[in-house]
Amino acid sequence: MKKYIIIPTTLVLGSIFVSCLTTKNGDSYSNRNPSSYEGENKCSPEKYSVEKEAYSYTKPGYNILENKCQYEVPPGLVANDLADFEHLSEGADVYPYEWFMNLKSVVFKDDKIFNENVKGKYNKYFHELLDKKFGVLKSNAVDSYKEVNGKKIKVKYLIPYAGITASWNNHSFDNSVIDQTGDVSNSSDAFAAYEDKNGNYVTEERIVKDIKGVKSIRMVGTNCALCHSGSIEFGGKLIPVQGSPSMVNVRGFFKDMAGATVVMLTDEDLLMNFLSDIKKSNPNQFSHINPEKDAKELSKEFTTKCSKATNSVKDVKGLGAINKFLVEKSPLGILRRGECKITLLFAKNGDNERLFKGIDAIKDGLVALLKKTYNLTDEDLAKTHLVQRMDYFAKLSVGIDPSTTETPSGFNRTDAFGRIGNLVLRGSHPVDITAPVSLPWVWGLKYMANLHYNGNSNSVIMRNVGQSLGLGAIILDKNLTSTVNVHNLDKIEHLVHKIKVPDWKEIFKDEAKVNSEVVINESLLPRGYQIYKSNCMYCHENNRFVGPSMVLREYKMFPLASADGKCNGMKDGVATQYECSPNTDRYAATNPIKPITDESDPVLKKLIPFQDSIFTGVGAIKEKYYKDHGISLAKQKEMEFYNLRGNEFFRDTYNGFDKQKDFKNNYGDMTKGMGYKARHLSGVWATGPFLHNGSVPTLWEMLKPAKDRPKYFNVKSMAFDPKYIGAPVKVWNRNNKKCDLKDKVDKEICFDTTMPGNSNVGHEWGAGLSEQDKLSLIEFLKYLPPEPEYSWNKETY
Ligand code: HEC
Ligand code: HEC
Repeated sequence: MKKYIIIPTTLVLGSIFVSCLTTKNGDSYSNRNPSSYEGENKCSPEKYSVEKEAYSYTKPGYNILENKCQYEVPPGLVANDLADFEHLSEGADVYPYEWFMNLKSVVFKDDKIFNENVKGKYNKYFHELLDKKFGVLKSNAVDSYKEVNGKKIKVKYLIPYAGITASWNNHSFDNSVIDQTGDVSNSSDAFAAYEDKNGNYVTEERIVKDIKGVKSIRMVGTNCALCHSGSIEFGGKLIPVQGSPSMVNVRGFFKDMAGATVVMLTDEDLLMNFLSDIKKSNPNQFSHINPEKDAKELSKEFTTKCSKATNSVKDVKGLGAINKFLVEKSPLGILRRGECKITLLFAKNGDNERLFKGIDAIKDGLVALLKKTYNLTDEDLAKTHLVQRMDYFAKLSVGIDPSTTETPSGFNRTDAFGRIGNLVLRGSHPVDITAPVSLPWVWGLKYMANLHYNGNSNSVIMRNVGQSLGLGAIILDKNLTSTVNVHNLDKIEHLVHKIKVPDWKEIFKDEAKVNSEVVINESLLPRGYQIYKSNCMYCHENNRFVGPSMVLREYKMFPLASADGKCNGMKDGVATQYECSPNTDRYAATNPIKPITDESDPVLKKLIPFQDSIFTGVGAIKEKYYKDHGISLAKQKEMEFYNLRGNEFFRDTYNGFDKQKDFKNNYGDMTKGMGYKARHLSGVWATGPFLHNGSVPTLWEMLKPAKDRPKYFNVKSMAFDPKYIGAPVKVWNRNNKKCDLKDKVDKEICFDTTMPGNSNVGHEWGAGLSEQDKLSLIEFLKYLPPEPEYSWNKETY
């Protein structure tokens, strides 16, 4: 039996980290000297420093300073953009396409998510459940075009859901390949069909394609649009809102995909049906499949290996207890301790604890299934990175070490930094996954200096590369070659910059004709503006401009509450001090930045600050890509928006200063320590639930003292209440009924504010306002025009 070489991501990043520590490789970043910024200096720095002085001493209610800079008004995504935004592959495609289309999953009898009466087990194709079960949006894109040799060619994407991508596993990312051959299917993305010279759609029949002497298959994965492409449910319709947070259950999606696959591997009948479905889909290409025989062999092999794996860990916390439970409580009375099938059957929802110790067995099972499905030999596999893909998929889906604690993220949230950190950097020292954050909106980002809730970075490319690694892009060798597709990340970033703040009137233009609830009450706006100005604006708007061209807006960072938990600068619900803490849940600020440690490594034995390891590791992956693809320094600068942003950096949110970066670019507030940033509120009405952890279901509840906000509420549908802004009472109100965390459905849809990371306390500004004033304020927030891109006429009100 051939040995596959698997390079665990953590090991690779760990070792590059060592070399960086000793050779100071990371210094290459400082080669890009701030004195070399070109162009775009539309705001004069001298002017700026005066304004900055004035600004830092202004009190609430200060006069807004003139915006001296020119901003592009983003046009929004048009049809072709939408297709690209929804489907461009980041290099994170983890699961074979034919599996994806033929996998069946579970519909639970009591599954209220479905609102339909389907009963039974494994009776639905997984891909048919994407919207109803996991909240993935159906695609809004129509026809898409690719430019090939100066000619536009029509293409169709494979899977019509926002954020679902497909690519050939051994693709060339280089567009020049398309240009030479005129064949769009050579490009990084796998299309269902493309228009040929004669105007016919040509479907890619091949299921295995030879690309440069390597057998390739189509793989399915996800991209930005999975999380950053939402909609508003109103009047029985889903109205798409570009760049708004998706109501998607990211973990559920991956866990279910893995869980269903693994259960299938233990079940001869399921496996046989799966294989024969695949065969039926393309009898010519899959003639090698013998469903009955193959299923028997595969499941036997897997069950043996997996039983071994699970037996050998019978004393591991969690697994042992579960096995004990199965032995003692099983009505069938036939269960043996550690038996794989039984262990996994109860993990059909992809339960981490039960799957975790079987990761290697799962990987082997997936590889064996892959070989059977696509008729691949060990030699074929050795030339590809499919084995690493399977390894990664097993890890990605199974997820966290059972010794860590998890707060379920459910719909609309994910613990981005916790998960990516654990998967990519932390190896055997994971942090608890107890800081799920609400998916943020992504409009007005071109000019936003400090990214992420805790404002830990200004980076465009590195943050996107890190995000791809978290979703399934993998590192292929010790030189840090990766599957990350930086070209596509760059394209997507440009698309994100085109997303505009949603305009209430435009979004509801049809509904407004028949439903007065969605007509803005203009008579409330003047009062609303007054309240906004004296209660909210000084934190949520900003005219501190930073970066080489002085056009980035640096949203203010607010530190975590002082030790006594009190917000010292607050009087009668009004902040009197700029430094006043919002006093919201701490976990998202404190969890992910815990230093990295690795005792097995002589150098990593010490604690390494999180931002250093991200910066060095992810930075090196980026540099490797640049090198491999011959990307010139000029092009690199363009991709990193260097003239706007300066050098990319991750800051040390733990100590409150940044070691690897100078702050010559005039970044200011970002040097502060742990805390959250107050982003502009333009379009915030389309983004509930609110706060960084999504712990408050409506804007109306945001304006209440924390003690009066709902303790438990349902998240899943974003059925929209135009008066209180957010989920309508009937959707989220559980009448204080606790979440039932044993119930698999409730666990995913119920938000429990008493769990770690989920606290809904803090940010009580506005709580003292009268009911009428609150309604006026909310009305104004619907109207609040786009702030960061272009100034609004503040004189109107
Ligand atoms: C799995 C879901 C998911 C996917 C996919 C995803 N993001 Fe995000 N994104 C998040 C979450 C969660 C955050 C907030 C993380 C934090 O601040 O702690 C975030 C934050 C951001 C931010 C910072 C926003 C702000 O206000 O500071 C940007 C910009 C962004 N994402 C862009 C992208 C782009 C571009 C892609 C694709 C290359 C992408 N995201 C893919 C979940 C996702
Ligand atoms: C002293 C500064 C400050 C004041 C005053 C303030 N905010 Fe905030 N606001 C913040 C910070 C900081 C956050 C981020 C907190 C978090 O996510 O944990 C925030 C978050 C929010 C959010 C959640 C945004 C999201 O991403 O979900 C909303 C909505 C909001 N504020 C509205 C308001 C309104 C309306 C007012 C005026 C009544 C106001 N804020 C006053 C600092 C402030």
